[in-house]
Amino acid sequence: MEASKKEPLIITDKEQMRKWSRTMRSQGKSIGLVPTMGYLHQGHISLVKEALKLTNLTVVSIYVNPGQFAPSEDLSTYPSDFHGDISKLMSVPGGVDVVFHPHNLYDYENDTKRNKNDKGACKNLEGKGEVVSCLEESGMGHETWVRVEKLENGLCGKSRPVFFRGVATVVTKLFNIVEPDVAVFGKKDYQQWRIVQRMALSISRSLLGAKSSADNGHINCRELRDSVIQAVSEAGGRIDYAEIVDQESLQAVEEISSPVVFCIAAWFGRVRLIDNIEINL
Ligand code: PAF
Repeated sequence: MEASKKEPLIITDKEQMRKWSRTMRSQGKSIGLVPTMGYLHQGHISLVKEALKLTNLTVVSIYVNPGQFAPSEDLSTYPSDFHGDISKLMSVPGGVDVVFHPHNLYDYENDTKRNKNDKGACKNLEGKGEVVSCLEESGMGHETWVRVEKLENGLCGKSRPVFFRGVATVVTKLFNIVEPDVAVFGKKDYQQWRIVQRMALSISRSLLGAKSSADNGHINCRELRDSVIQAVSEAGGRIDYAEIVDQESLQAVEEISSPVVFCIAAWFGRVRLIDNIEINL
């Protein structure tokens, strides 16, 4: 007898998506995210299988991101097969829990005037020789981007100057909506994989590093702060603040002798990310 296939919950609204994640997390569940632009193939399915091993619940996002297409690239003919995608996901043993399929993740000046089935078509629009994506070219009013300024320059970035900016921006949006514990990306586009990894991990990794140094007896806060500031700056972040403070009073401390929390805020492009880690010696 064929194993019963799990039908994923399809969520199109970002508030509903965030609410689902928060509800699941409050029940102690961990969440994995596999971001895709749909038209799934075996490569995507292997990422889904990987995510299924890592967390209790799995979300697959399907969103063709206009922010990573230049006006000369034909977004309107990007292939899609939503029903086929769902049945492929249902064939994965264990199945996925949610398919997040938003209509639009960008702020448009005139969103109500847009045709809801329009993926942001821009096939007849010419580039102006500047870094311009479909969104700007279509006059949609979007102008906030996340950039990983050094890594985005070489390789594919030379011929596709808007691509990685669009990827970093949409991935940041997806992380902020789904709030996953783990996200799984393929390495076929190695530059994309490296950019996303650098952006997302630089802060949390450097905080984990500081915690483990403190656990090993390095309790001088200036040294711990300096190492985190250096790591985040090397990853392209601009520090807003990096403070080690007492967990109760939130007053800065020079040496760790009571429970503290290391709090950090940093700008990546125009996006300000915050994170913290508690250190209880
Ligand atoms: O690799 C892709 O399919 C896309 O670039 C991604 C990561 C889903 C962002 O739109």
